[in-house]
This record gives sequence, C-alpha cells and structure tokens, in this order.
Amino acid sequence: MKELYHGDCLEIMKGLQEKTIDMIYLDPPFLTNKKHSLSSRDRTSHYSFDDLWACHKTYADFMLYRLIEAKRILKDSGTIFIHCDKTANHILRLVGEEVFGQDNFLSEIIWSYKRWSNSANNLTPNHQNILFFAKTDSYKFNKIFTDYSETTNIDQILQKRSRDAHNKSIYAREDDGSVVSADEKKGVPLADVWEIPFLNPKAKERTGYPTQKPILLLDRIIEISTDEGDLVLDPFCGSGTTLVAAKMKGRKFIGIDSSLDAIELSKSRLETLVKTESALLTKGRESYINADEKSLAILSGLDVLPVHRNAGIDAILKRNYQAKPVPIRVQRENETLYEAASKLSAAARKKGAKIAFLVATRKAQDLIEMKFDDHIVQIINSPALEIGSFIDEQWSKQLLNQTG
Ligand SMILES: C[S@@+](CC[C@H](N)C(=O)[O-])C[C@H]1O[C@@H](n2cnc3c(N)ncnc32)[C@H](O)[C@@H]1O
Repeated sequence: MKELYHGDCLEIMKGLQEKTIDMIYLDPPFLTNKKHSLSSRDRTSHYSFDDLWACHKTYADFMLYRLIEAKRILKDSGTIFIHCDKTANHILRLVGEEVFGQDNFLSEIIWSYKRWSNSANNLTPNHQNILFFAKTDSYKFNKIFTDYSETTNIDQILQKRSRDAHNKSIYAREDDGSVVSADEKKGVPLADVWEIPFLNPKAKERTGYPTQKPILLLDRIIEISTDEGDLVLDPFCGSGTTLVAAKMKGRKFIGIDSSLDAIELSKSRLETLVKTESALLTKGRESYINADEKSLAILSGLDVLPVHRNAGIDAILKRNYQAKPVPIRVQRENETLYEAASKLSAAARKKGAKIAFLVATRKAQDLIEMKFDDHIVQIINSPALEIGSFIDEQWSKQLLNQTG
C-alpha cells in the first residue's frame, strides 16, 4: 500500500477504495487568508503554503467536496477529526453536519495550550478546535481515563453513590449506616478539553513546517479512535505529524499533501522517528513549580509575578530597574546563603538584570557568606530573620552590660 501521495487530496481520495479507512484526521488551511511560511531551525529548508480564499463560500465548497470524499472512503465504524480554529470553526461545523449528519457530530475537542503573544486588542488565543464526527452510530471509540483532579473529594472516589427518594444523588449506606465502598475506579473518563503544550521553537520534533502540530495531540486522537493495525488517513498531512504518530503506535497510514516539500519532509520524518515528550504531561503541572510554599508566602504582599521553570529565580518584580527585570529569590531551608546567592546571580545575569534581591532566611554561616560580594545581588533579611537578629543583638548587649 502506498503511504504518501503528492497532489490535491480531492483527486487522491477519489482514487481510494470506499469503506477502507478507520480514521481520518485533517488539518486543512484555516481560512486565515495568509501565506504561511517558516524555515527550519538551521535555516537550510524553507516551507510555505497558501491559505488564501476569494470568500467564505469558496472555502466552504472546497471543504464540502473533500469531506464528501472522506466520508465515502471511511469504514462504517470510522470517525473523522477536523482541526480548525475560531476563523473557520462555524463553517466547518455546518459543512461537517451537512456531510455526516447532525446526529453524527460527537464532540468539539478544545486543544488548549499556553502561548504568550501580544494580542493587541483582544484575548490571547490559547486554544484550537477539533470537530469530531462519526460516519454512523456504530463507530469505534476507545474509552481512556485520566487522573482525578487535585480538587476531587476522596469520598467521591471511594464511596458508592445511590439515589434518594427525590432522585438526588447521595452516598450509599448499609442498613447499619456504614458507607458502601465504590467499585474499582479507573480514573476520570477523558473530557473534551485537552491541555497539550504547543511545540516550542526548540522542541526536538519541530521541523520548521508552518502550523506543525505536536505528535502528543495526534497520539490521543489515534488512541481514542483506532486499534493497532487500523488504517489512518491525513489528507492535508503537512510535515507528516499524523503519520509519525500512527507509525509509532503501530497503525497503518496514508498521507496526502499538495506540496512536494511537505511530502519529502514527511518521508524523512517517517525514516527517523523523533518525538518530544512533555514534562507537563508526564510529570504534571507541579514539576514546573520550583518556588516552594514558604518562599511564596514570604513574597506575598510584594508586587511580584511568581515565576516557575527557573531554578534561580522565584519571582520578578512588576517594576523594572534601569529598563531591566528585577529577579527575586528566597533562600531555601536546605541551602546556604552563598548557594542561594550564586544561583540567583547566575540566573539574573542570564536575564540581563541590573539588580536582583535575595531574601535571606538564615544568618550567614561563615566568612565566605558574610563577604559575599556581587554587583547584582542585594541581600535583604526576611522579617523573621530581621526580628530574630534584633532580639539576639539586644540580648547580647544586655549580657555584656551585666557582666561588665
Ligand atoms: C495546516 S497544514 C497541515 C500541518 C500538519 N498537520 C502538520 O502537523 O505539519 C495544511 C496543509 O494542507 C496542504 N494542502 C492545502 N491544500 C491542499 C489540497 N487541496 N490537498 C492536499 N493538501 C493540501 C498544505 O500544503 C499544508 O501542508
């Protein structure tokens, strides 16, 4: 079976046999009316594709003909995922319902991520939409489970529920009033909002292809809709993300793109499979939080923005100093003043800071610490240390007076 096709997906899909594909994911042009261009990190390759349309109707027709073909080649148990954003979401939802039927619209998946951009006079766009349709009502769907959220009440997990006389959900009780344990739990069924990081510019898997999607996003789509050995099609495959994800998960795949560069790039990605793991997904959000609770408590009340993902800095002052950021760190219990100051100094220099503040929580232990001299780091005592030192000093003076 041929895996990569160069050409208009409408024509190529017409040549594919009906009812042969298990799942289609498509990430078509988004109706941005732009030419998308980008270069690979080493600048040796330059990629681009057009997303220019005369009007919404032209775009809707373009998609309509392609979705009709997509439906024809899907198996009756097949599903389709249409990736878009706010620009064409409403159009694709209507066109999708026209082709697959309102009843076969299953979900609108929100792919949510953090991305900082200076959205001039609007909210920063931090999500895209994936419209999920089935071909028939007997579609393949693999339920997957996620962890409970930190706010889930443990009783909700451990205790069985039943209904009272008013049909209100209550915790079930034995006749003697004792609680009834719930059946084994697998976790929470996957919801329709997926937090998956956007590919950062340094990610190993980034190819330089404009609008490249993360493999982790496709992993999830493939997991819920296919089994090993199933056939996945991406008619607008771009850099080949879907194909790489499918291959890594033991699925068969077909990719189509009208750009020869995209097909060549997909080919090379399929030869050497590279995937970027996400610390956010594997270790959880807490893995980014390096400022501990005590440190944050000491900083509360200051006009600062706490920062995570930086081993040397706990927060940045909201005011700049000499047009540069002002980093702050709190000395940890297990760290000497010297160690804390060195970490802060190195991190602050990297950020181009002219001044940084270290909040000392313990007295300097030795001469090196007392003599710590850094042009950037200013050491100030925490209120607890300041009060403690003041009392100690008064106490020593009193003792001296008594003995003198
Ligand atoms: C949004 S990009 C896909 C990006 C891809 N998901 C990735 O992760 O790299 C859209 C792709 O559709 C391709 N394309 C546009 N019109 C097409 C058509 N009629 N048939 C096939 N591919 C087309 C473009 O060349 C571009 O690569």
